[in-house]
Amino acid sequence: MTALQNDTFLRALMREPTPYTPIWIMRQAGRYLPEYNATRKKAGSFLGLAKNPDYCTEVTLQPLDRFKLDAAILFSDILTIPDAMGLGLYFVEGEGPKFERTVRTEEDVRKLPVADIGQLKYVTDAVAQIRRALKGRVPLIGFSGSPFTLACYMIEGGGSDDFRQVKTMLYQRPDLLHEILEKNTQSVIAYLNAQIDAGAQALMLFDTWGGALSHSAYQQFSLAYATRVMAGLKRSNEGRVVPRVFFTKGGGLWLESMAECGADALGLDWTISLSEAKRRVGHKVALQGNLDPNVLFGDAATIEREAARVLDEFAHDKNADGHVFNLGHGISQFTNPDHVEALVNAVHRASARV
Ligand code: CP3
Repeated sequence: MTALQNDTFLRALMREPTPYTPIWIMRQAGRYLPEYNATRKKAGSFLGLAKNPDYCTEVTLQPLDRFKLDAAILFSDILTIPDAMGLGLYFVEGEGPKFERTVRTEEDVRKLPVADIGQLKYVTDAVAQIRRALKGRVPLIGFSGSPFTLACYMIEGGGSDDFRQVKTMLYQRPDLLHEILEKNTQSVIAYLNAQIDAGAQALMLFDTWGGALSHSAYQQFSLAYATRVMAGLKRSNEGRVVPRVFFTKGGGLWLESMAECGADALGLDWTISLSEAKRRVGHKVALQGNLDPNVLFGDAATIEREAARVLDEFAHDKNADGHVFNLGHGISQFTNPDHVEALVNAVHRASARV
C-alpha cells in the first residue's frame, strides 16, 4: 500500500499533535456538487450509483478534487445492511429511503437473518478500489449505521417523525427489539471488519436517531449495542490503529457515558459548545464537529467567523489537538460549493499552529 501523505485526520482522532485542525464534511460527496448529480444521472438512480464500485470511486474523489479535505469517506449508505437482510431498499424521489418489508411481528423478527456480508461485496470492492484511487492522498473512512438507527428504519419501513412503531415495540415487546438489535450488532461488526480488511483506515458509527430516546432507553437500546460493536472491531490494520468515531445526533446530554463506549472520538451536533464537551470528556476522547450546516448559507465572512468560533471553543485552553472539524450533521443539498471551499480554507488557515 502507498504511504499516507496526510495523516492529520488519523492523528487528531488519537489526540496526537497536528500542524492544523483537519476537516472533512459529513455527506461531502452528494447532491450539492453538480459533478455528483452528473454521475448519479449516468448511474440512473442512487442505488445504481451506490452498488457500482466504479461510480462510488468517482464520487468519493469528487469533493477531494475540489477542496483540501483531510479525509475521504466511502460513498455508500447505512441502509445497505437491512437491504442485505432482504428487506428490499428503494428510494422514492423527494421522500427518502423506504423498505418493501418491515420488521414488526414476532414472526418477522424470527425470520430476520444476520446480514450475509458476501451480499455486500459491492461495498468492500468499492473500499478497495477507492483506496487504490486515493494513492495515499488522505485516509479513507468506512462507516455503518448503529444497531439502533438501523432498527429504526427496519421497523418503521423508512424515515419517521415520531418513531411510533419503534417505540411501540420498545415499550410493548422490548424482547423483540433486543433480538433485532442483536442481529444488527453481529451484522455491523462483520460489515465494519470487512471494510477494514478491504482498506478502511478509520470507522464512523452513525447513530442518527439515538437522540430520539429517553435517557434510560438510550443507554439500554442504543449505547449498549454501540459499545458491543466497538468491542468487536479490529483494532489495527496495515500496522496502524484504525480509530473509531461514534456519533449520536442529539447525544450532547450523554457524553460521559458515550465516552466509555470504546470509541476514540465522539461526533457532536451543533447543540453543544465544544468547550463544554471538551471539559466533560476531552481527557478521554477526541471530538469531531460541530458547525451548524446552515452556517454555509451565510456569506464568506459569516462562515469564517463561525468556523473560528468553533475552533476557539475547542482550543479555549490553548490545546487545539484532538479536534477534527466537521459539520454537526450532513451538508444540505442546497449548499453553494464555493462556500464549502471558504470553510475548508478558513479552518486550515485559522487553525495553523504557530
Ligand atoms: O458522507 C458521505 O459523503 C458518504 C456517503 C453517505 C451517504 N449516506 C450517501 C447518501 C453516508 C455516510 C450516509 C449515511 C446515512 N444514510 C445516514 C447517517 C448519517 C446521517 O445523515 O445522519 C442516514 C440516516 C442515511 C439514510 C439515508 N440515505 C437518507 C435519510 C437518505 C435521503 C437523504 C435525502 O436528503 O434525501 C439517503 C440517501 C443518500 N445517501 C443520499 C446520499 C448522497 C442522497 C441520495 C441521492 O443522491 O438522491
